[in-house]
Amino acid sequence: MRRIRIFDTTLRDGEQSPGVNLMGQEKIEIARQLERLGVDIIEAGFPITSEGDLSAVRAIAREVRTPVIAALARTHTADIEAAAKALEAAAKPRIHVFTSFSAVHLQYMLRKSEDEVIAMSVASIEAARRYVDDVEFSGQDAMRSDPAFVFRAIAAAIAAGATTINIPDTVGYTTPEEFAALVRGVREKVPGGDKVHISVHCHDDLGLAVANTLAGLAAGADQCEVAVNGIGERAGNTSLEEVAMAIATRKDFFQMETGIDAKEIGRTSRLVSRLTGMPVQPNKAVVGANAFAHEAGIHQDGVIKERTTYEIMNPQDIGQGETQLVMGKHSGRHAFQKKLQALGYELPEAEQHELFRRFKALTDKKKQVTDQDVQSLVEDEIYRFDDSYELVHYHVSSAGGAPSTATVGVSTQSGAASGKVTREAAVGQGPVEALYRALQRATGLEADLKDYAIQSVGGGSDAQGEVRCSIAYVGQTFVGSGVSTDILEASALAYLHALNKAAAVRAQAARQHPTGREAI
Ligand code: KIV
Ligand code: ZN
Repeated sequence: MRRIRIFDTTLRDGEQSPGVNLMGQEKIEIARQLERLGVDIIEAGFPITSEGDLSAVRAIAREVRTPVIAALARTHTADIEAAAKALEAAAKPRIHVFTSFSAVHLQYMLRKSEDEVIAMSVASIEAARRYVDDVEFSGQDAMRSDPAFVFRAIAAAIAAGATTINIPDTVGYTTPEEFAALVRGVREKVPGGDKVHISVHCHDDLGLAVANTLAGLAAGADQCEVAVNGIGERAGNTSLEEVAMAIATRKDFFQMETGIDAKEIGRTSRLVSRLTGMPVQPNKAVVGANAFAHEAGIHQDGVIKERTTYEIMNPQDIGQGETQLVMGKHSGRHAFQKKLQALGYELPEAEQHELFRRFKALTDKKKQVTDQDVQSLVEDEIYRFDDSYELVHYHVSSAGGAPSTATVGVSTQSGAASGKVTREAAVGQGPVEALYRALQRATGLEADLKDYAIQSVGGGSDAQGEVRCSIAYVGQTFVGSGVSTDILEASALAYLHALNKAAAVRAQAARQHPTGREAI
């Protein structure tokens, strides 16, 4: 079995997905979960792009110790210095230097000749090696490039000290056969190509990212760059869970293995979806809601008699276990704590206490509380950071043919006004609009609603509703989520969650520019 290294780029390429804007604390939570999942390398960010990115990479490097932590850098001195600075505290730091290989990139983006690109790459790799021993090198758009130039540039990069050579299909253009041939060429024809790690990085513009990645690995690459739920630029990156489960399920064929703990896949997928605000399509392989649902009578009959008649993976092995009826009204604190443990949550006493209170409140409204309900409650509770405002009460009045009205009470959680409850009312075309306008007034944050989606947690008429929304505030996007048996409450909580993130950024800007003149 060949051991394949999983390089996760959810926090870098994944975060480049349109509309995604992860907060620092959210990035740390995702990095911690990726560590639990067993990825080998976490690409934590692109430090030169912003102060926020630099400090997030730095925090991850400090707190997440098992995987290698990588930071991205162009072939510029300032980029390499920023990456090195962000990685100072890392146990296993890697600088990932990238340039471009295709003629169209060289002509229009870099405005450099092939020789100049090679010279800049060599100088940057040597500079990065002065900070760290582990340097990865990538040439964007390798699959629309002249192979002779690709081989020449990679040979120079290896000679300069690159320890991993990444081959990106930046625009998702290649096919499995073509990709395999290039990987084989690098291994066999490039001087030193048999001594370095070779990585593959595919995008999904033609829906071929997973197939191309697997073909590259089969042709001799030993690292693949992937993102949870396949998120990333445009159509996304190769999906981590699909590659990991293809390798695990078809071990007989691929003769490869990874360090991924498949049981953590479900939780990782949910966490990334929740924090990025990007829903997982129901028919998504491995992690979609329908991935293990059987509709046709013949299929149902088969699965009831023997699961493997129509299932090639066991959903429980990837943390997508069947919903079990958990508890109800009479379940006590001890049973609830055991359930939290069984679902893999280790939480401080205070959080368990609050969750038990919410669980009890839920059992008043819902007879059967399922594993999904508990997961939703926990995730709703633990992935909230820096909340400045809390919903105290709301009232919505809505009838056909007339505008809706809403009143809300919002308490301030921090600062001089801590504990103060602000009450506001507003009118809207519908109940959600009225509610959101009232919340804007109560918080003083004028944000445009960009997206709103509601989904039930499990089935049944008493199911909880989970709302996800995204808002635009002063040019930035913030996503929020909320869960409740009352969908208007879930809507209010989701919007307030997003407003709280905007408030955190507003407060940070005010700290940096106390005069307010340059505040966001
Ligand atoms: O797609 C791409 O080429 C990239 C590089 C930075 C590796 O993301
Ligand atoms: Zn990419």
